[in-house]
Amino acid sequence: MAYGNAKALDEAYIMHTFGRYPVEFVSGKGAILTDSEGKRYIDFLGGIGVLSLGHRHPAVQRALEAQVGKLWQSSNYFYDENRGELAKLLSGLLATTTNELGHVTGTTGSVWKSFFSNSGAESNEGAFKVARRWGEKHLGGASGIITARKSFHGRTLATLAATGQDVFHKSFGPFPPGFASVPLNDIDAMAEAVEHPSDVTGPVCGVMLECVQGEGGVWPADLDYLRDLRALCDAHGIALMVDEVQTGFFRCGSPFSFQLAGIEPDIVSMAKGIADGFPMGAVAGRGEFGDMLVPGDHGSTFGGNALASAAGRATLETLISEEIGEHVIAAGKHLARRLEALPHVVEVRGRGLLRGAQFDVPIANELVEQGLEAGLVLNHIGDSILRFLPPLVISYEQIDTMADRLSVLIDKLA
Ligand SMILES: Cc1ncc(COP(=O)(O)O)c(C=O)c1O
Repeated sequence: MAYGNAKALDEAYIMHTFGRYPVEFVSGKGAILTDSEGKRYIDFLGGIGVLSLGHRHPAVQRALEAQVGKLWQSSNYFYDENRGELAKLLSGLLATTTNELGHVTGTTGSVWKSFFSNSGAESNEGAFKVARRWGEKHLGGASGIITARKSFHGRTLATLAATGQDVFHKSFGPFPPGFASVPLNDIDAMAEAVEHPSDVTGPVCGVMLECVQGEGGVWPADLDYLRDLRALCDAHGIALMVDEVQTGFFRCGSPFSFQLAGIEPDIVSMAKGIADGFPMGAVAGRGEFGDMLVPGDHGSTFGGNALASAAGRATLETLISEEIGEHVIAAGKHLARRLEALPHVVEVRGRGLLRGAQFDVPIANELVEQGLEAGLVLNHIGDSILRFLPPLVISYEQIDTMADRLSVLIDKLA
């Protein structure tokens, strides 16, 4: 058992917040992971959706190696050669327009300003602060935030409060007040929560949602719902915050998933795919929302450090130059077709290369375990949904190999 020592140390010295599978990965390249015994796996988890360009993409590796030899951290008190370039690239990507399939059509011309963090939860915390400052400045101190049921926004106390799943509210309270959730795709419920706010939220300064709920089971927001939501927020002058932590950076084909609906949010939170696996996050505000926070309002020791900024810049430049969105749109369709044809799959949801396969039998857990035996890294949500978040560079052939192996496993289990 090559991972024996790692397992013993893990059990003795690491908090057991994750159940681990009996594998130790030691290297990765593209969409392939190799374990400590030399066995190869096709990766359909992608480090939980972070590997936009795949494991160790040469452009990102080169940028990191060059930066490692120069400077790792100076702090946010000083300028950095890549941080501003990265923020400019982000602004351009956020202002991109696409059609409903995700093909790029132009730009809105908007300017977005970013704050760099280290994770998705931190990015959402920043988003709440921007929205609450907006409420303080323009809405008489309104601070309530409405989210969607089945959403997931992170593990800090405020992002747990924002997460619309009761299971996350069982322990660790009291939570920061001012958050409530309503069903996704129900504009009347959202209008009610905004127009007649409960005692729980008080007057509302903004709404936050994922355009495809990832952790909650891969549930997409309807594009018409997103347009109605934009109109609702405009009518009340409140902030529309989109959590693009899982859906951003071409995961759904378009640079960001809100672009499929042809809308522009006010605040966007990001992380995961921004730096191809290097830890980084960002929250961005459009126009006046980008100027809500001033010195002293917010900060981070590591956010936007030299290594992260170098990795992020190389990642975005490569995603753009390789036109990864076009590959994601086509490969995502192929993945959906192959999943739909599998036995016991009753529904395939999602967009691009964020897909969920719903089974009519509770075998998702065993499929993940047996998938490892079969050289597949899979992911389940509950006992009847498999979620697919492969590196965006996944090939048709790798998708076909996965689907063939998965079909054999399903026949064995169901
Ligand atoms: C939509 C969404 N928001 C926020 C988060 C939290 O991100 P992190 O784990 O980087 O804090 C996640 C993580 O899965 C997510 O999917």
